[in-house]
Amino acid sequence: MNPSLDPHGDELTAIVDAEHHVQVSLAQALRDTVQAGKDAALTGKILEQLTAYSDVHFMSEQLLMRMSGYPDYEDHVLDHERMMERLEEARNRHDTETEPVTLAEAESLLALLARHIGAQDRAFADYYRAWARRGAEPIWRSSIQPEHCL
Ligand SMILES: [Fe+2]
Ligand SMILES: [Fe+2]
Repeated sequence: MNPSLDPHGDELTAIVDAEHHVQVSLAQALRDTVQAGKDAALTGKILEQLTAYSDVHFMSEQLLMRMSGYPDYEDHVLDHERMMERLEEARNRHDTETEPVTLAEAESLLALLARHIGAQDRAFADYYRAWARRGAEPIWRSSIQPEHCL
């Protein structure tokens, strides 16, 4: 979305928030499925959906961070990468049937995701709205300009 069409950044942050709800719902479904001892195929399916959805969500969030010149980009991305590693590792173990997802692991993934959304994603949403309110200045204009520019 063109930031000029969303001058306060509210629509985009609402979309990101809706994606967080889907992400958390999938992580909760994973936890509930493991807790209920349901069949492994269902656990695998939910794990696959959570991994794929998280991958796409993280990419779009990172695109917004780059577009708005977010200063904590590196740290935030590191957290995304850690979560993807954990999800992919769990998926790999599940797919090769070496070790099923445990309840402790499913709860830990859910807690990790909730913490990330409550801290890092919230900080970015606040930054993004402030950036959009300033008129979504191009990065070159809002940062230090070379001395020879007038
Ligand atoms: Fe994030
Ligand atoms: Fe997020």
